[in-house]
Amino acid sequence: MRVQRTVPPAAAPFGMKAVLHGIAGLVRGPRSRRRREAELREYFGVRHVFLVSSGKAALTLVLRALKRIAPEKSEVLIPAYTCFSVPAAIARAGLKVALCDIDPSTFDFDYRHFGNAVNDATLCVVPSHLFGIPSDMDRINDLCRRKGVFVIEDAAQAMGGTYRGKKLGTIGDAGFFSLGRGKNVTCGSGGILVTNSVRIAHALYAECASLGEPGIREELGAYCMLLLLGLFLHPLLYWLPAGLPFLRLGETRYSGEFPVQRLSGMRAGVLAGWEERLEQGNAERKGNTRLLSLYLQVDTSRGAPPLLRFPLLTGSDRAREVLCVSSRERGLGISRMYPCPVNEISEIREQFSGRTFPSAKKAAETLVTLPTHPLLSARDREALRGLLEELFSARPPGLQEKCGAMKGKDGGLHA
Ligand SMILES: Cc1ncc(COP(=O)(O)O)c(C=O)c1O
Repeated sequence: MRVQRTVPPAAAPFGMKAVLHGIAGLVRGPRSRRRREAELREYFGVRHVFLVSSGKAALTLVLRALKRIAPEKSEVLIPAYTCFSVPAAIARAGLKVALCDIDPSTFDFDYRHFGNAVNDATLCVVPSHLFGIPSDMDRINDLCRRKGVFVIEDAAQAMGGTYRGKKLGTIGDAGFFSLGRGKNVTCGSGGILVTNSVRIAHALYAECASLGEPGIREELGAYCMLLLLGLFLHPLLYWLPAGLPFLRLGETRYSGEFPVQRLSGMRAGVLAGWEERLEQGNAERKGNTRLLSLYLQVDTSRGAPPLLRFPLLTGSDRAREVLCVSSRERGLGISRMYPCPVNEISEIREQFSGRTFPSAKKAAETLVTLPTHPLLSARDREALRGLLEELFSARPPGLQEKCGAMKGKDGGLHA
């Protein structure tokens, strides 16, 4: 364990005031949640908002709702490189995962394969605005409308981001966000589901009618965890949890066992002041995205989205190792993402009968992310610049000069 300033890979700070609001939320219960839902309806300009226990719970619920509407369809098409919670939610909703390879320059679908991947069995497509980079929503909506397929935006990592002037999450038939730690705004754990569709909302109200809420003991335990999270997330203290292997921080695991509940009053209370936190946090993420783009010579002249993490394809596993080891020594928060493509997740791999997705595989093998969050200090930014400069001038075999997230579409960065 290294006792030194250690930057977490992703973070959404919340202050003492939010923590105190958690107590008020505990007392107010569902009223606190309803108030947040009203604020979110206003912010997103949508008719229906559901606050639930996590992003994966939100996805599970909306998929169950779609299944009520179109029970003859059973497949959900997702990018082959994404968070393991996405296939876990699909399985939890009793549906089948279908995969499309990714475009490694955007982490969006590879549109050479997308059209064929959407077929008569496809209930919906779930594009992912991974890292905050918008998927090509016009293209996806166009094709899916023609084929009568729903579009559910996975905006778990993209709250507050936009695509052609529209808020991400509100462009498809429905969208969801994560309020987990390390997202754009957090209350420890939570999910937001938004839709303008009356049909989907009706099915969702039916799904949500029987949802439970955490009991008081669970709430108190969660509150203590939140206090610890608020404290140890700070770079001055993060070395401690980061050095405890049993916490398994940053590890990606597949699990179909997760609560599908309403967001608790306590967590809704902690969300008080979320809009200001979100706007401020994203403004800082945007600034850090621009700086990192500058260090990596990525063109941002057409705008930079507020990236939740800055993705960098290192070109080889070895180059990635060099970067990660150097970052760990200096406590700079550069980290790997998902360890394998969805088709290689051991719990579900047999479903894909040996099919391969080369770009998703390559991303799993070579991707790192750089931190962009508001806890990054001027000194951290300087240290990141120094490290990148050192590695680029030494140029370890295969380390690409450009960030791997960046092609010419609105809201994206441009290499
Ligand atoms: C792209 C993506 N989708 C879905 C999820 C699931 O959100 P949650 O962790 O709140 O269940 C996450 C969270 O890590 C995510 O990053």
